[in-house]
Amino acid sequence: MLKQSLTNTNSVENKTQNLETIGVIGIGKLGLCFALNLDRVGYSVIGVDVSQTYVDALNTKAFSSYEPGVNELLKASKSFTATTSVKVMLQSEANLIFLMVATPSLPDGSYDHSQIERVADEILSAGKSEIKRHIVIGCTTMPGYCNTLAEKMGEFNYEVSYNPEFIAQGSILHDQQHPDQILIGEADAAAGYTIEKVLRAIASTSPTVCRMDRLSAEIAKLATNCFLTTKISFANSIGDLAVKSGADPEKILEAIGSDSRIGNRYLQYGYGFGGPCFPRDNRALKKFAENADASLPISEATDKINQQHLEFQFEQAMKQHAVDQEITFDGVAYKSGTVYLDESQPLALAVKLAKAGRRVVIRESKKVIEEVEVRYPNLFIFEER
Ligand SMILES: NC(=O)c1ccc[n+]([C@@H]2O[C@H](COP(=O)([O-])OP(=O)(O)OC[C@H]3O[C@@H](n4cnc5c(N)ncnc54)[C@H](O)[C@@H]3O)[C@@H](O)[C@H]2O)c1
Repeated sequence: MLKQSLTNTNSVENKTQNLETIGVIGIGKLGLCFALNLDRVGYSVIGVDVSQTYVDALNTKAFSSYEPGVNELLKASKSFTATTSVKVMLQSEANLIFLMVATPSLPDGSYDHSQIERVADEILSAGKSEIKRHIVIGCTTMPGYCNTLAEKMGEFNYEVSYNPEFIAQGSILHDQQHPDQILIGEADAAAGYTIEKVLRAIASTSPTVCRMDRLSAEIAKLATNCFLTTKISFANSIGDLAVKSGADPEKILEAIGSDSRIGNRYLQYGYGFGGPCFPRDNRALKKFAENADASLPISEATDKINQQHLEFQFEQAMKQHAVDQEITFDGVAYKSGTVYLDESQPLALAVKLAKAGRRVVIRESKKVIEEVEVRYPNLFIFEER
């Protein structure tokens, strides 16, 4: 059975038997990095994903990623195998299973849990587990969801914990290895300890481990990112004010950040926040607050300032460049050096300027240029770097 489902020599059966086996369902951007970090520190890892081609590419180590360090770790991996079958994974000795499927945003700002639901249904369709299994939700969820899932899975001998990641694309492996804090919403104390032990094994830092109930951890995850977006929006609105009044934004923010109660990180004057986590988590927290009949104007204000700042940057650029002058963007990914464009503020500014009739040059990697061309055909001049 195992043999039929895994398509190469790096099979589950070939794994070193004395290693503890951990399952990771959803080995995309986040899950693959996590699986490889687990493998790196000596765990045996079974990853599950939906595409046979992708799984084959991982098992033959032919897969190539843009994420720094992934290709090297994949090549060096000793005990990482992938399969398309949840059932195959359930036949292994893995009783600790991390779920890292996507949770896209719905139009109202809340998270769509349908991919988690599908995986849960697939797991439960195998019936009651003979051994107690521990499912750890690594996806970003709406607060309260993990408790609902725990109720559903509990009857089938699965306990559910929550363990979100604070990582950024472009440095996922590094961020997993160097966490400041580890946040765990534990099913119970033993479950929390198990997760802590595994994450401490990956970390080369000595992170603060924050263990609590699932609901509190779900709120803490969204609120952390809400705080960071608030800090970014604060820096940009003070910076805009400084520019408008003829003062020096950098000097002002440096002074503010030198106060140890505040700190300089995320307090620079520049682009607004973007990417796959900050804007979404901020909106999801607002939606959760609405559902809880609580008011959270800070979340809304942060978003509004982000938009306002983009307008200000646009007006400044229009003023500072003559009508026939080219405006060059050295990178338009949401974060410099990555290939991702999700809610990228540099790209949003470039689009506004180009649509206002300015000649906009984008200097970027081939991969990003291809993506921008698909989204905005014939809008820009490109220079590959
Ligand atoms: N990428 C980030 O920067 C980041 C940061 C923090 C949190 N997160 C959260 O982590 C989660 C995963 O994000 P991601 O960026 O890795 O998403 P992703 O889309 O890159 O990866 C998800 C993977 O799950 C797989 N999948 C979907 N349904 C499946 C199923 N039924 N069985 C097995 N595999 C299945 C997909 O094929 C995909 O490979 C999300 O909840 C996201 O919000 C992501």
